[in-house]
Amino acid sequence: MTGGAEGGDRTDYSSYLLIDDLLRLQRPLTEGADDEMLFIVVHQAYELWFKLLLHELGLARDHLLQGACWLATPRLRRAVAIDELLLGQLKVLETMSPEGFLAFRDPLAPASGFQSEQFREIELLSGGGPPTIGGLHPGGETADRLARQRGGPTLWEATLRSLAAHDLLAREPGPAGQALVRRAVGAIYRSHDDPVRAHFHELFELLVDHDEALARWRHHHMMMAAREIGRRPGTGGSLGVAYLEQTVAQRFYPVLWEIRSEL
Ligand code: HEM
Repeated sequence: MTGGAEGGDRTDYSSYLLIDDLLRLQRPLTEGADDEMLFIVVHQAYELWFKLLLHELGLARDHLLQGACWLATPRLRRAVAIDELLLGQLKVLETMSPEGFLAFRDPLAPASGFQSEQFREIELLSGGGPPTIGGLHPGGETADRLARQRGGPTLWEATLRSLAAHDLLAREPGPAGQALVRRAVGAIYRSHDDPVRAHFHELFELLVDHDEALARWRHHHMMMAAREIGRRPGTGGSLGVAYLEQTVAQRFYPVLWEIRSEL
């Protein structure tokens, strides 16, 4: 890494990236548990990628709200590349055996990925999310921040506004307007030869990529949990794998899936 003025103060790799700070942040709780470092690093890496994912999804949403559909697609393409990387990281964690995990698991409780605020923000911003945020994060700043995030337009709502701005949707539909949305989406899937429709078609397919990648992550994470903890309850206090099984069917954009059987 180089930078700064010739001969003057130069930014070096460690000071620019705060490497010393970063490498001080891995603190296992159980001495002699050889797999705890893996567990910590993988979770921390997830949170870093979540941060970038939120950044890219937020920019995509904002470009759509500003009517610049063509600027949203590169952001979404990057978001999908990150989604795929997140899936791959589970393979690294799956090299841990159940005994390896048990060696340091108990002191972690009740910490759980269940409490990952950034994961919830990704769900909310994408257009989904659990119905009771307050229940997950009672009171406090987190609940307020997530509620504000939820109050703002989601990626899907921004997509609909952008469609309306391009006269591809008669008006911004409320909950009763789902039939209008379905018709508009179907029309774009059936015909997307002109540049604006082609852009929306590409945008829809990127949203499907994002939705599919998250669904594959949920499934793979559930399988990984099954091989690590069997039928034990989760450290977060849920039923464990039985709970995760229920989340696997979640989709952010049901209409983009349903439309396929109507083409
Ligand atoms: C040994 C590895 C892991 C096991 C056994 C495991 C297990 C579980 C279990 C049982 C739950 C249900 C909630 C609970 O009661 O705790 C859960 C939720 C969750 N975990 Fe993991 N997990 C592992 C690794 C990870 C990693 C690396 C991430 C990445 C951030 C992660 C993210 C999440 C998220 C986001 C949830 C909430 C899912 C939802 O509510 O839809 N987990 N995990």
